[in-house]
Amino acid sequence: MSESVLYLTTPIYYINARPHLGHAYTTIIADAMARYRRLRGDRVWFLTGTDEHGDKIAQAAAKAGVSPQALADTNSAAFRETWVRLGITNDDFIRTTEPRHTRVVQQILQTLWEAGEIYFGKYGGHYCYGCERFYTEKEIVDGKCPDHDTPLTWIEEENYFFRMSAYQDWLVKYIESHPDLIRPERYRNEILGFLREPLQDLNISRPRTRLEWGIPLPFDERFVTYVWFDALINYVSALGEIGGEHYTTFWPHAQHLIGKDILKPHGVYWPCMLKAAGLPVYTHLNVHGYWRLGGGKMSKSIGNVVEALALTDTYGHDAFRYFVMREAVFGLDADFSEEALVGRLNADLANDLGNFVSRATTLLAARGEVPPRGEVTPAEAEVATVYRKMRADVDAAMEEFAFSRALSAIWDWLGLLNRYVDSEQPWTLAKDPARRPRLESVLYTLGESLRCLGIVLDPFLPLAAGKIREALGVSGAVTFADAEWGGLRSGTPVRKLSGLFPRVAKDAKAAETAPSERIGIADFARIDLRVAEVVAAEAMPKSKKLLKLTIALGDETRTVLAGIAEHYAPADLVGRKVVVVANLHPAKLMGVESNGMVLAGSSEGSLALLTLDRDLPPGARVK
Ligand code: MSP
Repeated sequence: MSESVLYLTTPIYYINARPHLGHAYTTIIADAMARYRRLRGDRVWFLTGTDEHGDKIAQAAAKAGVSPQALADTNSAAFRETWVRLGITNDDFIRTTEPRHTRVVQQILQTLWEAGEIYFGKYGGHYCYGCERFYTEKEIVDGKCPDHDTPLTWIEEENYFFRMSAYQDWLVKYIESHPDLIRPERYRNEILGFLREPLQDLNISRPRTRLEWGIPLPFDERFVTYVWFDALINYVSALGEIGGEHYTTFWPHAQHLIGKDILKPHGVYWPCMLKAAGLPVYTHLNVHGYWRLGGGKMSKSIGNVVEALALTDTYGHDAFRYFVMREAVFGLDADFSEEALVGRLNADLANDLGNFVSRATTLLAARGEVPPRGEVTPAEAEVATVYRKMRADVDAAMEEFAFSRALSAIWDWLGLLNRYVDSEQPWTLAKDPARRPRLESVLYTLGESLRCLGIVLDPFLPLAAGKIREALGVSGAVTFADAEWGGLRSGTPVRKLSGLFPRVAKDAKAAETAPSERIGIADFARIDLRVAEVVAAEAMPKSKKLLKLTIALGDETRTVLAGIAEHYAPADLVGRKVVVVANLHPAKLMGVESNGMVLAGSSEGSLALLTLDRDLPPGARVK
């Protein structure tokens, strides 16, 4: 197990863009990690912030006729407010225009200057104003910036340089002796690949004649610091004085979380800077992939990353969080689309989770409180065993930032819980006083599952997890120590919790609850509905859901399969008059041909057959 302290950072975001999906993704997964580690009882410091210096801000401010600082204040606030709105639990928010940051940047620059790690030199190169960096001959594509596809400007100027080349061998050895320093492995390999070429010294200044908006070099006021040198130091400056208490507690446990776009500054510049300044290197650099847009075909696709983030308000913060964590494999690129989000929301959240919570709380609330634990049959033992295994799987996944794997482990257990309810049939048990002990043991298991879900889901679905805990009367902070199986007390009052994740009508499945499409009477008339009498009924071998019914339809008898086995015993059906769709194409299910469909209504786990309130002969038309 890793250390019990975590200092977790996101990149500090440029304030020339509005907060969008990409920023939100990094910040959300960082938040999930921070919450997860706090639940483990670890000491966590979670930092995010904004990167406010550079040409782009100065130019935008000039255009808007405001000072760069005024623009920075407004745009930085947009990020801070977005994180509050999304329920992000960062402990601090650093801005590179704060004095606490400037102070540490200047201190590190001075140290490096005095140690001879920085020198003054002349440099000529192809500069891209968009990227605020020089490009080497090798990187240039058709004489243009490979990123912006715009012409580069040849700039020759005197500047300060950091002797980064001197650290090449050290860095290669360091990465080789710390195999999981940069992870996932593909990014470690990318950095090692890059380090096979000779490393250049790093130009760390810009003349003030060209760029005013930055931190002045303490040893030469004519220059300001290069944005990356400035920005990377935020991770240290946010901890206060170097060597101070906060720094000493957290810096040795630093883990950075970044997107793959900024791998090189974090994987190369930053460790060299730290080494030169006599500071320890971070413990892990965790690198995620990129979200791509435009994958959606069915509905209008999302035009840009800001629009994508707006879907948090449409579908809820928990649903958005769940989607981005579940859909992207950490480290790889993923496609964002509204359909995929709605698909996950309906299938995983409304169906798997929402239905379970609704069924379990309804059953428990009907009884009022959690019953005694009762006997533990193999079915209950399996729920507990799989739960414990799931917990271990989640821990292993989270160790590697594998959010998707962690969630899929939880959902595997949830699948088992839903199957447990289906096969134990607590509704049926409740009707038979003789089976009360059995009912109690099932209800206890459901209550305990809910209680554990309310804790385990907390890092991923904080709002829903809070509601689940509330339904069981759990208030105040919880930890994983509370999530040991069997901790639920009998007598705990339970409230019904339904509609945790309402279904969204965006795909075919959602039509069930959606206000449906209007049709004409002629369309309706094409459906041949008839009264039928059940003359025989039997369970289908190997199926939990299906019953095989023989029905009389006027002169004719037919076989019909109905998915009602969890709600009706075969014997209860014989002699009943039901309503069937008589003109459906036959369909073969589990080797039996079904010739028609019995109508039933359903809602949140209950199901009711359509029957007649007065008698009619079999075969009578229904319209
Ligand atoms: N200011 C620098 C970082 C300095 S850190 C010392 C910067 N800022 S940024 O605003 O451009 O943010 C880049 C980061 O935003 C990425 O590393 C990633 O975390 C996130 N994302 C931006 N777009 C993204 C996607 N399309 N997909 C996933 N995340 C991406 O670079």
